[in-house]
Amino acid sequence: MEHWTLDDIAWERFDRSKLDPKLVNIVKAACMVEHHGGDYGSYLCSIFRDDPEFCEAAVSWAEEEIQHGKVLRRYAELADPDFDFDESFSRFVRGHQLPLDAKESVRGSLCGELVARCIVESGTSSYYSALRDATDEPVFKEICRRVAADEFRHYKLFYTHMKRYREREKLSKWSRARVAFGRLAESSDDELAYAYYCSSDDPLPYDRRRCVRAYAGQTLPLYRFGHVERGFGMVLKAIGIEPQRWFGRRLTKLAWWFLRYRARQLAHIPA
Ligand SMILES: [Fe+2]
Ligand SMILES: [Fe+2]
Repeated sequence: MEHWTLDDIAWERFDRSKLDPKLVNIVKAACMVEHHGGDYGSYLCSIFRDDPEFCEAAVSWAEEEIQHGKVLRRYAELADPDFDFDESFSRFVRGHQLPLDAKESVRGSLCGELVARCIVESGTSSYYSALRDATDEPVFKEICRRVAADEFRHYKLFYTHMKRYREREKLSKWSRARVAFGRLAESSDDELAYAYYCSSDDPLPYDRRRCVRAYAGQTLPLYRFGHVERGFGMVLKAIGIEPQRWFGRRLTKLAWWFLRYRARQLAHIPA
């Protein structure tokens, strides 16, 4: 399939009057994390070195993630001409190193690694869907629509390979659940929050708890039930739980309740 390029974006439709400054800060953080996709590609190729078919797919996947970084960077620079990507990104990379020399998955198995990748893509697809629905700025809406579509496709890619490794490694549903919920818990770790800090004019030294709360306080209110229902349904599917059955539906309601609870808790934290 022919993938879109930055030239396919109708940049001339940019409408500054519809720009939400809070979303610009979120875009700056997202563009740095997406730019880091190349390093994740190297990590995946290292641990899946005996699977050339998957490595080839991982290289293409990483290229698409880097492209997300490029398109979001261009948008951030359009929205805020003072944004210095190179300076912010080098600060971010210095403080957030990935285990590039790893020979084994940090998830304990290759199937576990693919479950974790499914969780990440569930998160990014619902995240860009939420951003797409939260903005009225036409260029940003278009970018989020394209990126979200890619993220849904990435999920499908990792899910397909995960099923293959699930057969081979016989990873139990419980083990998959442990990886999935472990990775979900890490979603509140400091990768995005640190990127958010690096791209902001925050005069204070980095404080993980403060920055995680500041970042989540800006992003959690953007989600609607439909985003969580679809994204969490993808998480459950990766574990092997039917999202449409009674247990899956209860878990989704619980996830939605927790997200709203956190969003209310963080509502008064300054950006
Ligand atoms: Fe991405
Ligand atoms: Fe992705």
